[in-house]
Amino acid sequence: MKICRTMQLCGVLALAASAVAAHAQRRPQPEPAWAHAAWMNQSLTAGQRADLVLKEMTLDEKIGLIHGEGMAGWGKPNAYSYLGNGGAGFTLGVERLGIPIIQMSDAAYGVRSSAMNGRYSTALPSNLGAAASWDTDAACQYGALIGRELRAQGYNMTLGGGVNLTREPRNGRTFEYQGEDPILAGTLVGNRIRCEQAQHVIGDIKHYAVNDQESGRNEVNDIISKRAMQETDLLAFHIGIKIGNPQAVMCSYNAINGDFACENKYTLTDVLRTQWGFKGFVLSDWGGTHSTEKASAAGLDNEEPGEVFYGDAYKQAVQDGKIPMSELDEHVRRILRAEFAAGLVDHPVHKSVVDVFGDLAIAEHIEEQSIVLLRNQNNQLPLSSATVHTIAVIGDHADSGMLSGSGSAQVDPPGQHSARWGQHVWFPTSPLKEIQAMAPQAHVSFSPGADQQAAATLAGKSDVAIVFVNQWTSEGMDLQDLTLPDHQDDLVEAVAKANPHTIVVLENGTVVLMPWVNQVAGIVEAWYSGSDGAKALARVLFGAVNPTAKLPITFPLSVADLPHPTLLHPPAHSEAASPVQRHILTSPTFSVSYDEGIKVGYKWYDAERKPVLFPFGFGLSYTTYSYSGLTVTPGDKPSVSFTVKNTGSRAGVEIAEVYAALPASAQEPPKRLVGWSRVPLNPGESKQVTVSIDPMYLSIFDEAANQFRLVPGSYRFLVGGSSQTLPLQKAVHLQ
Ligand code: BGC
Repeated sequence: MKICRTMQLCGVLALAASAVAAHAQRRPQPEPAWAHAAWMNQSLTAGQRADLVLKEMTLDEKIGLIHGEGMAGWGKPNAYSYLGNGGAGFTLGVERLGIPIIQMSDAAYGVRSSAMNGRYSTALPSNLGAAASWDTDAACQYGALIGRELRAQGYNMTLGGGVNLTREPRNGRTFEYQGEDPILAGTLVGNRIRCEQAQHVIGDIKHYAVNDQESGRNEVNDIISKRAMQETDLLAFHIGIKIGNPQAVMCSYNAINGDFACENKYTLTDVLRTQWGFKGFVLSDWGGTHSTEKASAAGLDNEEPGEVFYGDAYKQAVQDGKIPMSELDEHVRRILRAEFAAGLVDHPVHKSVVDVFGDLAIAEHIEEQSIVLLRNQNNQLPLSSATVHTIAVIGDHADSGMLSGSGSAQVDPPGQHSARWGQHVWFPTSPLKEIQAMAPQAHVSFSPGADQQAAATLAGKSDVAIVFVNQWTSEGMDLQDLTLPDHQDDLVEAVAKANPHTIVVLENGTVVLMPWVNQVAGIVEAWYSGSDGAKALARVLFGAVNPTAKLPITFPLSVADLPHPTLLHPPAHSEAASPVQRHILTSPTFSVSYDEGIKVGYKWYDAERKPVLFPFGFGLSYTTYSYSGLTVTPGDKPSVSFTVKNTGSRAGVEIAEVYAALPASAQEPPKRLVGWSRVPLNPGESKQVTVSIDPMYLSIFDEAANQFRLVPGSYRFLVGGSSQTLPLQKAVHLQ
């Protein structure tokens, strides 16, 4: 039944509905009929409760649960649009049975598009940036903050939790993900989801799977072996699911070995359900559903954001006996179960006010742990406000803000209207002001850098020059190369020529090339730094914070060194396909062969013996550390122990990394990360560290046996402060 035909009418109805709801909230409510229903018994399992509800549901109610009701601002409103909350989408609940509507919002690094709803969200550092902390506690704080802010805004499901591995660093969404290593990425995203979902929002992990480039993402077919997939992208998802237990998995746009990810039986059923035992539901990426019967049989539970395949067409298929009722019931059961398991039924959402200052402090703290010190010649950093009298701050927006990543991840800065797609959004966190605040006696001046000569002249007259360079990236695009745009390399070179005390600060979504690397005194990787990034940055520059972070991604020397120097695009004729036309694609239009296979990130550069600009796991500190005394205890759960000492004069936290080289017969790249520990140390202090290693992290995927297995033989463990600085090594035999 259509109850509103125009946008205006829907708007009026929505206002009326919220007025009625507000009025109703003020009056004591009669108890709903379902209040004492059997499924409200909290001592039952989520699955038992879901079964009880399912028995009561009509066919139409079931169909209502397996698709979305449209996305605010996209497409025509329908009869239920007034029930939306302004987010990416929503799926009807069953009001008469006490099952709430699932209100979904994008929330990659904060709640998206809050300005559209007249509300406020905190922007955290980008996911890639936060991954540089290697800190599971920070990941938990990250998730909990987003979970709280989602609920405050009336949402009960997040669409965050991106964990596609950086196989192709030109991918415009690299900033939404957790880097190139499956164990690091999976562990961090799992901890984020665990704490996000603890706020009683449905947690989500995405984009499942192998969604490694944006170019032609709706029509690309990724060709990749099962072993490579299992040991890279799928491993990250598996670890994330094990730790975080998300109640939802979003399948991706691309096809994998011929079948679109949202109708791919191998990934959705054989791996996700049978191999991993996932019990939540699978929803499609927005417009990523391509069929009814095939998708349903393969394991897709919910189509978003509309009902092209999972509305009337699905109902008809059930009535015609093409889809058994039991299959529909299974999809519905999973969605109901997820609502119970995440606490949506027992803890209904009430809009409230975000703790703006508390959350800003968390964002700043996470950024402090995410900033990577990449170069520090002659201890140029930290700056001392006692000895630096004149500072030149140079670069686009360096007086007023710091850049953020765009697309569906975009968080709106306070008071600013929702960003247009493609707009560069700078958060009002001013490096100039924060640097001045750290050095109140110094003369701090600014040049935007567009006039390189003027910038160089200013640098020449200053004790120190700090140049801010940026690289904007977004969903829906890939970078064509990794060179900084807008002649920023020339700017850095001009400034560095004028002042030997030049420090470069990077605001970027993925890796960048640095032809000037040896010409500057310092390089600080600030990523997309979030709502209070400039404060964190200034505290690092002046030594109030000792940097601890390490790169979750390799910086190559050139695009020619990437596994695929040429990025493949869809054939020209299909590129123009509109979002509506793309629904009807029944098969992909072009293929990318991921023949580098397991060799993702540092594993590629190691195996191919390619030198890099900055290796995975690398990051400097204002103090120094030494490593000694490695022992390895074999067994079912092997562990390594060693001592780390702070040999410098400042307190710090060393991220100690443990890698393993597998026996030659395993046919693996030279080494893989298998564990790490964050070790806080005062000057002169030593600590013994023990890292126990999940045997799966030492295993390989055996395609014939369709499972992971440990290859018996000699395993060499390597320990140190980066993937290329591993002073401790010891081999043991493992069965
Ligand atoms: C993106 C998803 C996002 C969805 C809803 C899609 O374009 O790929 O990551 O959650 O839109 O906004």
